[in-house]
Amino acid sequence: MSEKISVLIPEEKVNAKIQELGETISRDYAGREVHLICILKGGVFFACELAKRITVPVSIDFMQVSSYENGTTSSGIVRIKKDLDDSLEGKEVLIVEDIIDTGNTLYYLIPVLMQRKPKNIKLCALLNKQDRRLKDVEIHYLGFDIPDEFVVGYGLDYAQKYRNLPYIGVVELEEETGDPDQA
Ligand code: IMP
Ligand code: MG
Repeated sequence: MSEKISVLIPEEKVNAKIQELGETISRDYAGREVHLICILKGGVFFACELAKRITVPVSIDFMQVSSYENGTTSSGIVRIKKDLDDSLEGKEVLIVEDIIDTGNTLYYLIPVLMQRKPKNIKLCALLNKQDRRLKDVEIHYLGFDIPDEFVVGYGLDYAQKYRNLPYIGVVELEEETGDPDQA
């Protein structure tokens, strides 16, 4: 089997949406500061692009959690693999995630972060797969609603590949014929 990637959301559309989100967030947080929490690794491309488009003062910290031990299905068990460096006390926190799928990760994480006494916590996600939701999480800033398909690019991976694609694509598995004339 080999993989073929078909474009679901082209680069220009993703960039335009991030610009729009940056403007909305800048308006909403006008006169205040926002503390971004980037969820590694998937959220990193989106978080950087978003941060560049926010005009109020921004600080940024990183956290890595895992809910997918292997493969493409959520186990429902969430583990903190890398914790934040900085305190959240009194801060206006904006969590930046690549995609909300089952909702398990954020459903677990938000109450854990609330215990650290931030002023408030909001959630910004590039993608949302509503059809797959098992746990209810409120997304305050959303890029795109997408159908129930496994996507890659803009930080999202398939077995650690394709994070660097500048667009959102769908992975299609193809049979290899083994016959070069048919390739
Ligand atoms: P949740 O806990 O099920 O909402 O899953 C969240 C995490 O699963 C995301 O942050 C992604 O890292 C990963 N994930 C979910 N759907 C996809 C996908 O279609 N492609 C790549 N990663 C995904
Ligand atoms: Mg993720």
